[in-house]
Amino acid sequence: MSEETYILGIETSCDETACSVVAEGKRVLSNSVATQIELHARFGGVVPEIASRAHIEAINSVIANALDESGIAPEKISAVAVTNEPGLIGSLLVGLMAAKTIAWVWDVPLIGVNHIYAHAYAPALDAAPIEYPAAALICSGGHTALYRCESPTQLELLGATIDDAAGEAFDKVAGILKLGFPGGPAIDNAGRKGNPRTVDFPRPLLGGESLDFSFSGIKTAVLYHVNGVPGAVRKKQTTTKQRRGIEHLSEQEIADVAASFQSAVVDVLQTKLRRAAELIAAKTLVLGGGVSANSALRAAAVELAESLDATLRLPALEFCLDNAAMTAGLGYHYFRAGQFAGLDLTARATVRR
Ligand code: KG4
Ligand code: ZN
Repeated sequence: MSEETYILGIETSCDETACSVVAEGKRVLSNSVATQIELHARFGGVVPEIASRAHIEAINSVIANALDESGIAPEKISAVAVTNEPGLIGSLLVGLMAAKTIAWVWDVPLIGVNHIYAHAYAPALDAAPIEYPAAALICSGGHTALYRCESPTQLELLGATIDDAAGEAFDKVAGILKLGFPGGPAIDNAGRKGNPRTVDFPRPLLGGESLDFSFSGIKTAVLYHVNGVPGAVRKKQTTTKQRRGIEHLSEQEIADVAASFQSAVVDVLQTKLRRAAELIAAKTLVLGGGVSANSALRAAAVELAESLDATLRLPALEFCLDNAAMTAGLGYHYFRAGQFAGLDLTARATVRR
């Protein structure tokens, strides 16, 4: 058998410390992830300083696990691919330093990978290659953006959120509804029992040609729906129905609000993905990022792909959330193209292109 190319991937852009070995850019031989969810849960969101420290504690054992599980000897690894942008700067630096150290000690090339591009590659893991051109909708806790993808490494930004990311809105609304952290899965679960037509939450930036997103208004609308509009003159409250505050909502009412919020977000995401796909005559629709685990969004994407006669590529659930298999998988394509980074590769918190 001819020699296969094995890439070691490292991902620490947010609150998962992850390492993976991937063969030929597609076969995932190991996918080691140490999650920090419990550390951040009581704050209702990721605390950057806590995240960096937890990465430092976990990184060595996560890398050792990934190598071990893959059964691939270090001398068989062709390159180290690492997420260097975008993300929490302190978190990114931990993965970047580990990757540089390995690249230097093992004398293998270093490859810098954009985290969002890696999310757009996730559907190709343990699956058939993606057919291009593709319209990719990447929505996670930190990002919501649409891309025209011409290949795994050629992506053009078509639109992005102008305020909150979709996942951030899920997390904050789950906080308002006291459903716990991370909010996405909690709202997804609660929403299954609710009626999405109960509250008509706003669908921002839906008109015109815009491919940008805005989610902070939906989040505020949920807050006002639950707690009332600050400063508004209140009618005399006599019945339980008229009282404001989460403590006065029944489990069913909370489920109805969760389902209505989710439906507003999914409507916006579906409409913009359709617009992008039509604009670039996409053969393929790609979803990626943590929010692509959402059951309502996945169902809406299936419907959309059918109506556009396009192929839908959804990542397997384990590759929706942050992981290093997508970093290693995409890194393979830079490896094939000879696009390597120097040991002076820098981390960047934000990037818009
Ligand atoms: O991609 P990811 O793991 O990390 C970032 O790059 O941000 O995404 C995490 C985000 C969180 O905001 C989480 O609430 C959201 O993805 N999420 C979901 C679901 N599962 C995770 N949002 C909606 N529905 C889900 N089932
Ligand atoms: Zn992510």
